[in-house]
Amino acid sequence: MHGSRRKLKVVIMTIMTAFFFIIVEVSRSSNQDKNDRHKIRIPTKPFWGKLAHSEAFWNRQQQKLDHLYNPILRGPNATFSGLVPDWLNDTVAQDSCKPDFQVMTQVKNFSLLPDRFKDFLLYMRCRSYRMVVDHPQICKNQPFLLLAIKSLASHFDRRQAIRESWGRAGLLANKTIVTVFLLGNATAVDHFPDLSPMLEYESSMHGDILQWDYRDSFFNLTAKEVLFLEWFNTRCPDASFIFKGDDDVFVNTLLIIDFLKGLSPAKAQDLFVGDVITNAGPHRDKKVKYYIPENVFVGRYPPYAGGGGYLYSGKVAKRLHGIMNRVPLYPIDDVYTGMCLRKLGLAPEKHKGFRTFGIEEKYRNNPCAYKSLMLVHPRSPQDMIKIWAWLNDPALNCQ
Ligand SMILES: *[C@@H]1O[C@H](CO)[C@@H](O)[C@H](O)[C@H]1NC(C)=O
Ligand SMILES: *[C@@H]1O[C@H](CO)[C@@H](O)[C@H](O)[C@H]1NC(C)=O
Ligand SMILES: *[C@@H]1O[C@H](CO)[C@@H](O)[C@H](O)[C@H]1NC(C)=O
Ligand SMILES: *[C@@H]1O[C@H](CO)[C@@H](O)[C@H](O)[C@H]1NC(C)=O
Ligand SMILES: *[C@@H]1O[C@H](CO)[C@@H](O)[C@H](O)[C@H]1NC(C)=O
Ligand SMILES: *[C@@H]1O[C@H](CO)[C@@H](O)[C@H](O)[C@H]1NC(C)=O
Repeated sequence: MHGSRRKLKVVIMTIMTAFFFIIVEVSRSSNQDKNDRHKIRIPTKPFWGKLAHSEAFWNRQQQKLDHLYNPILRGPNATFSGLVPDWLNDTVAQDSCKPDFQVMTQVKNFSLLPDRFKDFLLYMRCRSYRMVVDHPQICKNQPFLLLAIKSLASHFDRRQAIRESWGRAGLLANKTIVTVFLLGNATAVDHFPDLSPMLEYESSMHGDILQWDYRDSFFNLTAKEVLFLEWFNTRCPDASFIFKGDDDVFVNTLLIIDFLKGLSPAKAQDLFVGDVITNAGPHRDKKVKYYIPENVFVGRYPPYAGGGGYLYSGKVAKRLHGIMNRVPLYPIDDVYTGMCLRKLGLAPEKHKGFRTFGIEEKYRNNPCAYKSLMLVHPRSPQDMIKIWAWLNDPALNCQ
């Protein structure tokens, strides 16, 4: 009798304690409601909308990849079979480097497109080309900064000026710099003279040429990006930072090193800075170099850093490498990189030291103007050597 009374008391106490906590919890959350107005929002639209068939070819390819990589729809096997709606079932082909003649019927008005688009679309699935010149050991001393410069076979003078100025490999401010030049093939189709013996000589002299066997054209710069990320991942994965840019820019490597040294570890890890362009979209004027027709792409561009030159961390490079297969190649390389960043949930950050659109004419010959800039575009080989000498002159006084 006594025992069961005690049990009852314990049960009542427990229930009261529980009530007390419930009341405290309810009043806490209702207070939060008043303060933060965190109300439950009931969506007005169904959360799972039916995918609309896009008329634009690139968008359709992206929808397909999104579908393929959707972790809910994808079975454990990551195949399309049985999962793909009919309208997506036209090219379910894997990456392939054979010309994809199906695009001729899949892209509306294909025959009316300019040749460069036909070439691009026919080879859009190809992401791997044979490497013809490599220097597998070039990163053996774990570079602090890897300079990856997009160049063309014929640009011997630009490469040499970079080696003699801002892109000199070795130690700079006690940091290891490694420089590589990224090249495709200057092909006879584009009426280039055969420069391969000279290129071979240059490569044996300097050991900094990376070349792949594909046609080096403007629309194939995206292939260059993808091939570089692949190369980086296997040959240079321990580089802390990467500068990737054109061979007609001046880069203040000293200032870049200072900037990188000053970053917090968190900031350094997710770094991606450059001259960021926001709220852009495809040019619809056929005369513009960046023209993209409606049957290829519709929509806006994500924020992207101008391809003249941007700076990012090795960690971000590895993440880009991991995600790049989920974004169809886009004919404009810097926009493509922006698209990959967006897939990663990252946004490039604008830094006012990156001047891919140049600087005012009156500062052109002012050495001090270059002291606080990281990148200036465009600059000739002679300019590069001149400006680098200015910056390294101990007598330069910019107070
Ligand atoms: C994946 O697909 C193969 C062949 O289609 C099948 O034999 C295998 O059981 C599948 N694996 C899983 C986990 O479903
Ligand atoms: C997709 O295409 C394949 C081969 O072309 C065909 O066998 C399959 O039935 C198609 N699937 C759907 C859902 O239409
Ligand atoms: C295809 O070209 C025709 C004739 O130039 C044009 O009227 C039509 O709008 C084009 N269709 C698309 C989808 O671009
Ligand atoms: C140069 O770098 C090395 C290795 O990072 C370090 O041990 C050394 O102290 C540095 N020297 C100077 C002068 O900063
Ligand atoms: C590059 O292009 C030239 C001319 O079109 C060709 O002869 C050569 O085989 C191609 N490949 C390489 C690796 O040079
Ligand atoms: C890209 O390179 C491939 C391989 O050389 C070539 O077939 C294709 O035409 C090129 N694409 C463009 C747009 O130049």
